[in-house]
Order: sequence, then C-alpha cells, then structure tokens
Amino acid sequence: MPPAIAAAETRQVKKSFASGEAAVQAVRGVTVSIHSGELTAIVGPSGCGKSSLLSMLGAIDTPTSGQVLIGGIDVATLSDYERTLLRRRQIGFVFQAFNLMPTLSALENAALPLELDGVSQREAHERARVGLEQVGLGKRVDHLPSQMSGGEQQRVAVARALVTNPTILLADEPTGNLDTTGGEQVMKLLRELVGEHGQTVVMVTHDNEIAAAADRVLRMRDGLIASDYRPSAIAAVPAPMSVVPAAKSAIGQTGSKPAPQTPKKKTTKRRK
Ligand SMILES: Nc1ncnc2c1ncn2[C@@H]1O[C@H](COP(=O)(O)OP(=O)(O)O)[C@@H](O)[C@H]1O
Ligand SMILES: [Mg+2]
Repeated sequence: MPPAIAAAETRQVKKSFASGEAAVQAVRGVTVSIHSGELTAIVGPSGCGKSSLLSMLGAIDTPTSGQVLIGGIDVATLSDYERTLLRRRQIGFVFQAFNLMPTLSALENAALPLELDGVSQREAHERARVGLEQVGLGKRVDHLPSQMSGGEQQRVAVARALVTNPTILLADEPTGNLDTTGGEQVMKLLRELVGEHGQTVVMVTHDNEIAAAADRVLRMRDGLIASDYRPSAIAAVPAPMSVVPAAKSAIGQTGSKPAPQTPKKKTTKRRK
C-alpha cells in the first residue's frame, strides 16, 4: 500500500522576521507531518513559534526556507492565485478573537467564504445553515455576533471555517478568549469533528488540559518541536511508579504536583 499523503507537511521549515538589526528566528527548522483525521495540538510557551508554524501549515505565511506541502502539493510551486484558491478551499482558519463581521448574522458570517469563492448566495446560505446546525447553532442563524455568547460566536467561526469542506482546519488558541463553559463547548465540537466526521484539525493552545484531549501533541520550544507524543499512549502507561515521572515530564507537568503515593496501609474506612 502506498504511504498515505499527509494533510499537511513541513520539511526543514524556517521563519525569521527582521527586527531592527537582528532577525528573530520564530521557527528554526521544523519537519513534521500532520496526519489526516487527527486532532493535533501545538503547545509551548508564548513566543516559541506556534502561530508562525500554524500560519505556514495553512499557506497564510511563507517560510524563509524549507518546504510546506498541503495535501501533497508543494505550496512554493503555486502561483499567487493558485495559493489563494488553495487557502480558500483547502484551509479553514479559526482565530482566538473569532473575527466575525459584527453587522452580519451568524448565517451571513458562515456563508462568507463561499460567497467570496463565487458560490450563489442561495447555495451559500443553504450550506451555511447546514454548517451552523453541525455546530449546534441551528436555532441561532439570524443572531448577530453581539447577541451570542463567546462560545457561540466561536462556533459560528468554526462553521465559517468548515463551509468550504476544507482538507484541514487550523485554530490558533480557539479557546483563549472563552470562559470555561465556552471553551469546553468549542473543544467538544472540535473533538466531534475529528471523531465523527474525520476532519483534520490542528490547534494551538497553551492549556495542558485542552492539549490532553488531542490525539497528538507537538510541544514547541525556541522555534523547534521539542517533543511529539500521544496523550492517550501516556494515559495508558501501566501503573509502575517509575514510569510516572517520565510521562509527566512529557506532558510538561514536572513538579506541578507530587505523584500520588500508593498507601502502604489500608486507609481508614470512608464515612458515608
Ligand atoms: N510579524 C512579525 N514580526 C516580527 N516578529 C514576529 C512576527 N510574528 C512573530 N514574531 C516573533 O516570532 C517569535 C514567535 O512568534 P509566534 O509564532 O507568534 O509565537 P507563539 O504563537 O508561540 O506565541 C516571537 O519572538 C515573535 O515576537
Ligand atoms: Mg501565537
């Protein structure tokens, strides 16, 4: 069987920004394949290059050197127009700040990418309605962003990112502006999209708890991927205590809490 084509892939990708005299190296040589049908989380401290890497995976930004392939296509071989079409049709992007148009209804917001791509308003609205139903907002189609909670607004943004049926959905700290409930709703939705619809999702987050719900975690540090692991594999590690510190350090929680100790004696009987 031929190897499956990665949804997106980088090869020795670097990104630097001119900053006065010195250049800032945001990404310093990352080679990674994003597998189709998975929820991949990119985590790491502020400034480590997460957003820069995500933008290159979405052909929103061009690398200083190295290659980016989306659906097996080397982005650098495309003309500007082809790249615009690729972004419009293959990539869905969700931002921390929702970026909805305040004067447009949920339906009009969600339909926008299709209308920009020349789809008739009627068809665009029909597909946007289906998208809003998929994110659980079938009853909010006529609401303006200001009439919705943060979690609802972000779900409209997810619907907008999905109407074109993109190969890959990229989300940069999608829960960063939300309260706990809103964040949980959005995470649940992203998990459902992956689990039930096979959507490929790459999400930047600095929340370890949210990252733990991903299929795969790429932990970045200083412009590089410092570790690449599957939280479920770590959770499934059998009990020996000697393994626990390693697993904890892999998920970046070293020293946050002492590992639970197995009681030597039988604990006192619990009161009812
Ligand atoms: N447009 C830009 N111009 C100059 N420096 C930038 C730009 N975008 C990002 N950087 C710098 O690149 C580094 C990585 O940024 P970023 O990818 O946004 O990190 P993260 O998303 O992990 O916080 C930071 O030092 C940041 O200041
Ligand atoms: Mg960022």
